[in-house]
Amino acid sequence: MSKVLSTIAITGAASGIGAATRHRLLEHGHRVIGVDLHDADVEADLGTPEGRAHAIEHITHHCHGALDGLVTCAGLTGLPDRPASKLVSVNYFGTVELLAGLRGVLANGHEAAAVALSSNATTTQPGISMALVDACLAGDEAKALALAGDGESLSTYGVTKLALARWIRRHAPTEEWVGAGITLNAVAPGATQTPLLQEGLDHPVVGPLIEDFPVPIGRRGKPEEIAKFIEFLLGPDGRFFCGSILFCDGGTDALLRADDSPPPWQPT
Ligand SMILES: NC(=O)c1ccc[n+]([C@@H]2O[C@H](COP(=O)([O-])OP(=O)(O)OC[C@H]3O[C@@H](n4cnc5c(N)ncnc54)[C@H](O)[C@@H]3O)[C@@H](O)[C@H]2O)c1
Repeated sequence: MSKVLSTIAITGAASGIGAATRHRLLEHGHRVIGVDLHDADVEADLGTPEGRAHAIEHITHHCHGALDGLVTCAGLTGLPDRPASKLVSVNYFGTVELLAGLRGVLANGHEAAAVALSSNATTTQPGISMALVDACLAGDEAKALALAGDGESLSTYGVTKLALARWIRRHAPTEEWVGAGITLNAVAPGATQTPLLQEGLDHPVVGPLIEDFPVPIGRRGKPEEIAKFIEFLLGPDGRFFCGSILFCDGGTDALLRADDSPPPWQPT
């Protein structure tokens, strides 16, 4: 029997990147607390404040108050017939509230690391509403949901992932996070073959948009590829990463935004 190395909670553990990460960590002897709507150790709807509180309480109980890693994969894709407010509540608040609510138990863990799932939609999706990004970052969920509204969520996906990336960069270098021994980073994948992507591909409007989205390497990502990188960021060799938004997208961002990153600092 393999030795239990560390205890890691994963949201969205029932499918796609979360499931691949869970599988890999279990294979390597770690203990995983899976969180999802279904088929998980902790079943919770992270789109609601009650569901998030339930998840935080039960993860804390399962890890006995000390968590070594947290990976936040739970998320929804944007669709013309899915309300934008739903994406804001699941992708943004369902992530940052879990990060904030579990920070204390991560501080009790051994060389703890948190890894969130952002996206290359942050830089490659046109028409991102910065007003909604700011409303998310202000932490006022009611205001953000009202601003998002119940219309299409295609353009809101990038908003939620950009707001999340900014939340991570704002918090990672602080006393509460790295000062408490917790590294906090995000992986920003491009098109990765999972049920989330397939839901878009199967949609008559969204499918052709995804098909037309350029991926210079000539194929989509595999959830296992992203899982290996997440495992690295959780482990002892990833300790110098702090506040990084790490793109892994087969070249899409480099193709579309070649000179925009890294942006030079030009104080005025
Ligand atoms: N697949 C891609 O191309 C891609 C690209 C960039 C970023 N991402 C991000 O990676 C993460 C994982 O995506 P995936 O492709 O593995 O998706 P997936 O659909 O395979 O898995 C997502 C999981 O989140 C769960 N979930 C959804 N809503 C939830 C809720 N309210 N409460 C609790 N759990 C909920 C689902 O049940 C599912 O098991 C997501 O945050 C996604 O936005 C994915």
